[in-house]
Amino acid sequence: MQRIAIYPGSFDPVTKGHLDIIERGLNFFDKIIITILCNPSKKSLFSVKERVEMLEISLEQFQNIEIATHNGLLVDYAAQRGAGAILRGMRAVSDFDYEFQMALMNRKLRQEVQTIFMMTSLRWIFTSSSIIKEAAKFGGEIEDMVPPIVNQKLKEKFG
Ligand code: PNS
Repeated sequence: MQRIAIYPGSFDPVTKGHLDIIERGLNFFDKIIITILCNPSKKSLFSVKERVEMLEISLEQFQNIEIATHNGLLVDYAAQRGAGAILRGMRAVSDFDYEFQMALMNRKLRQEVQTIFMMTSLRWIFTSSSIIKEAAKFGGEIEDMVPPIVNQKLKEKFG
């Protein structure tokens, strides 16, 4: 039986921190389905189509992955795809409350789906899509924190 994980997120846009989690996650799962879902508390910069495109280009060299989108509940999608695990990256302590709440809600909704946390590599501990977008918006150099395609798209968005 294949060990399949869903790696869910907004991916608005994908960062090197995400790539790090996917790369290391592949040591534990036969397949990772990177899934763009809606986070109602966030206003997105890129369309879903743009986000898929950036993921596809950034993950070109990865095997055993799939890029997907889903409009409803994360746990329903996991069940639909036969995934036993939800993979999430954890950075600083500030992530903990939100991640803990989400993991417990997901477990309540579907007990059979396990949330697995991986610590982000030290190098990416302070990066997030939100902070990168903010820096890029005001002309900050974020080139080394994102795949080249994302750097290009951010430059196009913010001129
Ligand atoms: O990258 P993010 O924004 O931290 O990812 C959050 C995301 C998209 C994984 C979360 O908002 C989500 O799972 N959205 C889909 C709806 C859902 O299942 N919510 C969790 C239980 S209420």
